[in-house]
Amino acid sequence: MPDPLKSLQDYLAWLEERGSLLRVRDPISPILEIPSFLRRVMYNRGPTVLFENVAGYPGWRVAGNIYQNLDTVREALGVGNLEDIGERLVGLVQSPPPVSLGEKISSLRKAKEVSSLLPRRVRSARFTKNIVEDGPLASLPLFKTWPRDGSRYITLGLVIVRDPQSGITNMGVYRVMEKSPQEGVVHWQVHKRGALAYKKALEEGRRLPIAIVLGSDPGTMLAGVAPVPYPMDKLFFAGVLRGKGVDVYELDNGIMVPANAEAVLEGYIEPGKSSPEGPFGDHWGFYDRPLEEYPVAVFERLYHRDDPVYPGTVVGLPPLEDAVIGKVIERVFLPVMKMVFPEIVDVNFPVHGVFQGLMIVSIKKRFPWHGKKVLLGLWGVGQTSLTKMIVVVDHFVDVHDLGQVMWAVTSFAHPGRDIVVLDNAHTDSLDPTSIASVGAKIGIDATVKFREEAGRDPPDIVAPDERVEEKVARVAEKYGVKGGDPWRRLVREYLDTIRVWYEARGGSTP
Ligand SMILES: Cc1cc2nc3c(=O)[nH]c(=O)nc-3n(C[C@H](O)[C@H](O)[C@H](O)COP(=O)(O)O)c2cc1C
Repeated sequence: MPDPLKSLQDYLAWLEERGSLLRVRDPISPILEIPSFLRRVMYNRGPTVLFENVAGYPGWRVAGNIYQNLDTVREALGVGNLEDIGERLVGLVQSPPPVSLGEKISSLRKAKEVSSLLPRRVRSARFTKNIVEDGPLASLPLFKTWPRDGSRYITLGLVIVRDPQSGITNMGVYRVMEKSPQEGVVHWQVHKRGALAYKKALEEGRRLPIAIVLGSDPGTMLAGVAPVPYPMDKLFFAGVLRGKGVDVYELDNGIMVPANAEAVLEGYIEPGKSSPEGPFGDHWGFYDRPLEEYPVAVFERLYHRDDPVYPGTVVGLPPLEDAVIGKVIERVFLPVMKMVFPEIVDVNFPVHGVFQGLMIVSIKKRFPWHGKKVLLGLWGVGQTSLTKMIVVVDHFVDVHDLGQVMWAVTSFAHPGRDIVVLDNAHTDSLDPTSIASVGAKIGIDATVKFREEAGRDPPDIVAPDERVEEKVARVAEKYGVKGGDPWRRLVREYLDTIRVWYEARGGSTP
């Protein structure tokens, strides 16, 4: 069996052995046609597609729907649960200091484990075999996804830059618009790590070297989408995702890129050179035409391996492939969120809320107005700070069951008391109600409110008589009536929550 983490092509071979790779041999163009094909596949959660006859781009093949579903991604990354990856990261920082000899020995073992996740520099890479210097973008099968997109776009490239001050490498998946055969406009939003590196280069009046990696193994590519806390190096984080370090190759411009790349664009951004960007049919399903300008990257050369595969994705009305990618990130980062907010039990970014739109979070509430504390905290850190709507519920509500969430919101949220609206707040620039990354936010604290918060006790929930339940279950089964009461677990935990809350305050349960 091929190793899916060796390279994109090995991953495709691995998928093929599992029967989940579709080869398309008909001639098909990356201008509207491949995107249309991929949308059909993605809306139906189909296989990964390898287009072998890309009209207009001989020598290139195109791979799409690379992240076909959560199980395939989990197996490719070699973990039982996607959360295990986040645990791996949290484990590096969250453990008591070693005191005994045994603990010291085991911490040495841990240090060895960490070193196996570090990037390793190599002196050769297949992608250096072929070099195109004349109009490198023109030779690539970039997609035009929607009829009114402003140009062709790189849609799943890893944009790599180094922080000019710290030397930390960032890899981000940002769309890049073809401006000319030699230039691309890099759409990193102002809050993102790539934009921060550029800001520092601007302040120092220095050119920012840049590379765009087109096609790497699925673990390394995911690192580009991951909201990794600054200033952790993304090449290191790619090792955490893959469970083994990434082999890196240093380009002439000093940027380290994954050595297993299919193709690499190398260039620079001249400080202050910017351009209008868009329109681009985005993942909310609307054409985005930014008011602000974005920096222009000049590409001096394209490297590519023999018989390269170009990776692309398409966005539009949800849920497309970005829904799978977003869910992978949600699961991987749950342990990290729990490290920052120990009260968090689970999170759900419903796919139709396109991740930055809506977040549902459940917490183990410990003190009055704890729900609001979590709301404000999430709006203050990392990329959850871009979330437009956040709903906080108690731990007994299953955040993935939207029915239960609606019940909790309508039961426990008092509109005059439990809703926080923040006007003139920063937001994801794609939010269709925003103007240049400025919009508004709403938070709903839908946790149960206690006497100290509401001036009244929580509502008295209906709970069946357990003995009657057992007896009736036996009788019902005789008549083929199966299945219990879907609310039983929730009701028990609700009652326990109320009991513990009042007992912790030395009172008795109402
Ligand atoms: C298909 C796809 C396209 C994306 N396009 C952009 C984009 O154009 N601009 C942007 O700021 N983020 C974009 N993102 C989200 C970033 O990849 C994500 O926020 C990532 O964490 C950014 O990395 P950073 O924290 O290193 O900046 C995209 C994500 C996906 C899955």
